[in-house]
Amino acid sequence: MLIDTYGRVAKDLRVSLTDRCNLRCTYCMPEEGLRWLAKPDLLTDDEIVRLIDIAVTALGIEEVRFTGGEPLLRPGLVGIVERAAALRPRPLISLTTNGIGLKRTASALKAAGLDRVNVSLDTLRADVFKTLTRRDRHKDVIEGLVAAREAGLTPVKVNSVLMPGLNEDEAPDLLAWAVEHDYELRLIEQMPLDAQHGWKRDGMITAGNILASLRTRFALTAEGEEIRGSAPAARWLVDGGPHRVGVIASVTRPFCSACDRTRLTADGQVRTCLFAREETDLRAALRAGAPDEEVARIWRLAMWGKKAGAGLDDPAFVQPDRPMSAIGG
Ligand code: GTP
Ligand code: 5AD
Ligand code: SF4
Repeated sequence: MLIDTYGRVAKDLRVSLTDRCNLRCTYCMPEEGLRWLAKPDLLTDDEIVRLIDIAVTALGIEEVRFTGGEPLLRPGLVGIVERAAALRPRPLISLTTNGIGLKRTASALKAAGLDRVNVSLDTLRADVFKTLTRRDRHKDVIEGLVAAREAGLTPVKVNSVLMPGLNEDEAPDLLAWAVEHDYELRLIEQMPLDAQHGWKRDGMITAGNILASLRTRFALTAEGEEIRGSAPAARWLVDGGPHRVGVIASVTRPFCSACDRTRLTADGQVRTCLFAREETDLRAALRAGAPDEEVARIWRLAMWGKKAGAGLDDPAFVQPDRPMSAIGG
């Protein structure tokens, strides 16, 4: 079991498969990209599967989510999913992607054992998409979403980060579209995890802004806290249901007290939190020949050091050195 000093038990493992991405979202990375990890520093497919195996057999992990950068850029993704799905106890397996390339891979991923996907799409307007991501790939994402739904990677969730001056007015349109196409929309507050360190609290679009904007067109009924559990998204029934909308308010209403997550970066570092400033090197242990029990022990010890929360309200808050794309969302 991965338990911390606050009694929280991690059951959800997020594995970053690459720090690279084929988009350049302004809230994530600069136009020129970043200094990517070198190939020898990345965990190999075998190392990733071994760590997931240890996580499910020795540490009580029940769900594994693959993230990036953009995880579809990892050549061995389908094989990694297949091998993760063959582990016992079998974890639930999910993927967070920007959707580019999903059209081509959705059915192979489903066949390999992927259970569901979350796709990032911040806007319905191709021109705004191009400004926000600095790439003209709106159509690819829409096609990827359709392919995911048709392949049965359901419920397909759509993640939209709202940015002032860009897509801040789009929440109701996004929700109408998501209801029509049977996607579960989650509207997300921008977090201070951009490589450029340009995040500002003043002017950010808050959960309060988002809900007020949605309520101009929809009747929202809050879902009970007991249903939410450890999920980042608080959810509302839309016009009496069955569709739901989620709001991920990491900044104005942090949910750290219920956190059930542990993370692995693409270069094999355990992070106890998105905002952690410490990392624990499992890659070094693997490559030094440590047996499974030793790797599990190091991982348990790392989680014991997990802080109470992200600390965004702390005047001494310092953004982590690694940006979101290198941590895995
Ligand atoms: P579900 O299991 O489908 O609910 O996925 P998820 O919402 O946990 O994961 P996803 O990768 O879709 O992330 C959605 C948003 O939540 C992104 O903006 C993530 O950065 C953010 N997020 C994920 N995990 C955490 C976390 O532990 N803390 C905070 N503050 N935000 C998180
Ligand atoms: N704040 C909030 N969400 C972010 N994402 C990427 N950067 C940020 C940020 N700074 C979202 C992406 C994707 C998920 C992995 O995290 O849009 O849906
Ligand atoms: Fe890529 Fe995701 Fe960062 Fe956008 S937010 S640039 S999709 S890693």
